[in-house]
Amino acid sequence: MDKFYIKGGLKLDGEAEVYSAKNAVLALLAASILTDEQVVIHKCPKINDVYSMTKILQSLGCVVEWQNDSIVINSSQADKHEIPQKYGQEIRSSIFMLGSILARFKKAKAVFPGGCDIGLRPIDLHIKGLKELNVEVKEQGANVFCNGENARGKKIHLDFPSVGATENIMLASTTIKGKTTICNAAKEPEIVCLQDMLNKMGAKVSGAGTSIIEIEGVKKLHGVEFVPISDRIVAGTYIIAAAMTKGRVYLKNCRPNDLCALTSKLNGVACDILSSNDSILVKGYEKPQSIMTIETSPYPGFPTDLQAQALALQTVSQGTSVVVENIFETRFKHVGELAKMGAQIVVKDRYAIVRGVPALYGCDVYSHDLRGGAALVLAGLVAQGYTTVHNVRHIDRGYFKLEEALASLGANVKRIQ
Ligand code: UD1
Repeated sequence: MDKFYIKGGLKLDGEAEVYSAKNAVLALLAASILTDEQVVIHKCPKINDVYSMTKILQSLGCVVEWQNDSIVINSSQADKHEIPQKYGQEIRSSIFMLGSILARFKKAKAVFPGGCDIGLRPIDLHIKGLKELNVEVKEQGANVFCNGENARGKKIHLDFPSVGATENIMLASTTIKGKTTICNAAKEPEIVCLQDMLNKMGAKVSGAGTSIIEIEGVKKLHGVEFVPISDRIVAGTYIIAAAMTKGRVYLKNCRPNDLCALTSKLNGVACDILSSNDSILVKGYEKPQSIMTIETSPYPGFPTDLQAQALALQTVSQGTSVVVENIFETRFKHVGELAKMGAQIVVKDRYAIVRGVPALYGCDVYSHDLRGGAALVLAGLVAQGYTTVHNVRHIDRGYFKLEEALASLGANVKRIQ
């Protein structure tokens, strides 16, 4: 299994371009099956989660082709409505396919994605939403069978603004009779991105980005060419990396407005941040100060997907920080690994109290999940000596050749076997 071998202590310095958001692309790939015409999604990252989703599309009978960094999907011959078990249980985002397969074939079979390294991650809100659309849902062991012959639009209230459930209900209701209203919908930029592509395909969706989304069912959707939004979590990871290494990084093709929860905390405390419409310049401070509290919450709050990286920054900042993880139950697995490097952190339930130390020390550490793995890489960049980050496959799920991107900014990171 691949590892990253990092020599710490170098400041990042240079320019990086941010590619399309993984979490946007996954939902758009699910949407591609809503039409039998061609769908082209540009600027896609060649990362494992995206490859996995294209494999699911192929298993349904779609022809999927990469043309440089664009994915071309032709689902005119798609004839299967079952997500194969091996993908369904491996890939959590396969659950989005439930809504879009239902919309296309009026029936769908999926498997429960199960828990994962960051928490339980149930799909009860997805199922409840579909049931409210009058979809018959039968759960048998690990399988979920859906019949959408009599589906119709309805007002749905989500108990929690789940990103996945919001996207799934949007996908399921694009072509059913009547109007669907999702109350307490997730407001993430990736949801707005999904709305934009669906509307370009002929759907009638409005309100994304607010807590009420309305979907007026239409008869048919058509093909589309689409450029997704850029990845705010990748951009945020680079911003934190620049601050941690006391470096200077210019990020192109990013969306500063999507990153306010992070940049407003870091600016003037750990680094200077200068933003334009689509770029961000970060200049790290020699003595970054701790952020007093970092508390994750649904967008526009502080993203859970940046918690681990921001916590890594706190380990080498001056002062004490309290990090609260409100979204996922067990998203502190990186803490034990950071402690091996000399970080001073106490975890109690959903709280981590981090006291900044003058230095981290390189050693062997293990990534347990995608963002936690990225946090360990950032720690390796500033640690004294050499750090080996094991289980890089987790990081590869969401970052395209992270080692090369960081090396192009002056870091000393190598992929080894
Ligand atoms: C998505 C993102 C993920 C990100 C997360 C939060 C994708 C592919 N994944 O995940 O990277 O970390 O948003 O921004 O876009 N919940 C339930 N029942 C449900 C669904 C969710 O209880 O049916 C709970 C979850 O356990 C969790 C919380 O709601 O505690 C948030 O989950 P959700 O917003 O659904 O995250 P995902 O869509 O899984």
